[in-house]
Amino acid sequence: MSLINMKELLAEARAQNRAVGAFSVSSMEMICGVVRAAEALDTPVILQVAQVRLPHSPLHVIGPAMLAAARNAQVPVAVHLDHGMTEDCIRKALDIGFTSVMFDGSRLPMEENIARTREIARLAARYGASVEAEIGVVGKTETGAALTAQCADPEEAVRFVAETGVDALAVAIGNAHGVYEGTPELRFDVLERMQGRCGDTAFVLHGGTGISDEDFRRAISLGMHKINIATASFMAVHQAAQGAKDYFDMSARMAGAAEAVARQHIGIFGIRKEAAT
Ligand code: 13P
Repeated sequence: MSLINMKELLAEARAQNRAVGAFSVSSMEMICGVVRAAEALDTPVILQVAQVRLPHSPLHVIGPAMLAAARNAQVPVAVHLDHGMTEDCIRKALDIGFTSVMFDGSRLPMEENIARTREIARLAARYGASVEAEIGVVGKTETGAALTAQCADPEEAVRFVAETGVDALAVAIGNAHGVYEGTPELRFDVLERMQGRCGDTAFVLHGGTGISDEDFRRAISLGMHKINIATASFMAVHQAAQGAKDYFDMSARMAGAAEAVARQHIGIFGIRKEAAT
């Protein structure tokens, strides 16, 4: 049984000054590929699916598959709902057994984001699950739709953590989902101003595709202990499927591509140290 609460993974990552890779999955191949990478590197991982992807990967199908893969993995794996937008969807994920949920109220006024995040935190606590929220606006949606990035205000972020008690907070620092136009300019000063003021809450870096290794390491040193990767995996899996000679060849290529992307990123985010296991 390797299914685990996300909070535990993040605490271990913080103690080891690394980040846990959170990989978006939308098929059995992607799930298996990510778990294989985590096992090969003996490092815990987060499997996640965003609410917006559920029309392609229904929660009642992909959710149990993610959970089964986590339970059978040789390393701890958390199963997380990414960008939960509605309480109904979040409740369904918790009912299925997800060990972590995100409520994304980043486009709501601050007070409403706080109030609704607190309700979700109370709900998740009844299931023993972790909660992630978001402050500021990460550029573009997970599907690539236009959304103007807006950096989080560090004072508001500190207040948000104090008033909601979330386990993880996605802090927008100029990052964006999808493919970056130009080089991402991350506002590390926002994180610097939050140092030592948010208790055990881990910060989360969304929009991981296209960020340099150096920026990843700097973000981790400033408290980003969960890093989300989606576009890089979807692009690699799509590319790998081209020219496959039959379905099974395609399936193997897809799993292999998801594994390779996860391996590469886990290698940058940090390998688990034995001493803490
Ligand atoms: P990318 O699609 O840029 O990798 O971002 C993933 C993400 O943040 C999912 O929430």
